[in-house]
Amino acid sequence: MATISVPVLRIEGFVIVSADGRLANARNVMPDDLKIEGDKRFFTAALERADLIVHGRHSEEEQANAPKRRRIILTRKVEATAPDPANPKALLWNPAGCPFETACGEIGVTSGSAAIIGGPGVFGMFMDRYDTFWLSVAPRVRIPDGEPCFPGVPDRSPQQVLAGHGLRAGEAQLIDAAHDVSVTPWRRVS
Ligand SMILES: NC(=O)c1ccc[n+]([C@@H]2O[C@H](COP(=O)([O-])OP(=O)(O)OC[C@H]3O[C@@H](n4cnc5c(N)ncnc54)[C@H](OP(=O)(O)O)[C@@H]3O)[C@@H](O)[C@H]2O)c1
Repeated sequence: MATISVPVLRIEGFVIVSADGRLANARNVMPDDLKIEGDKRFFTAALERADLIVHGRHSEEEQANAPKRRRIILTRKVEATAPDPANPKALLWNPAGCPFETACGEIGVTSGSAAIIGGPGVFGMFMDRYDTFWLSVAPRVRIPDGEPCFPGVPDRSPQQVLAGHGLRAGEAQLIDAAHDVSVTPWRRVS
């Protein structure tokens, strides 16, 4: 019998957090302390490989190639989906109006990989769907009044939240020795 291959979109998450699990300061701005060269290099390379970028309206990556990338931007300003008048490569999507798969079909990406890059509510929405979540930690940075990276933080650590959603830590890689920053892939246990 002939086998039919079904295209699958792999879903990966990316964030850098402080030692206390924050991704931005109390004004909801990512502080310079979290903009670490080794992590920027890692993140840039990962987005170069991704077929689709997905984020909330305030979380577009600050990178030279950003305008070249196909992206889905979450917003409640549209009912379901709509072209982004400011970016021909972007689709505006309201998850209350249609499923993620519909938005992916409309933007023409149904296989390969999607990079989910925040903010916290968007990370939370995909928590049961990540194939891998790449968690970078800056252990020397603390932002006690800052924005928690995921729903459930700081009552639980980011690592406990990922583990609670069926992900298990792989081997950490040191990506910035000067700042002692490592990234750990959290992979779904099938
Ligand atoms: N450290 C890191 O790695 C990292 C990663 C990501 C973000 N950040 C930082 O975190 C801050 C942004 O946080 P943020 O909370 O403002 O996040 P955000 O998710 O980028 O933006 C929130 C906006 O996205 C839209 N949105 C989010 N969830 C939605 C949903 N379920 N349905 C419909 N629309 C939705 C809404 O847009 P509308 O208002 O248009 O409806 C909402 O106002 C920034 O400072 C960013 O730099 C840091």
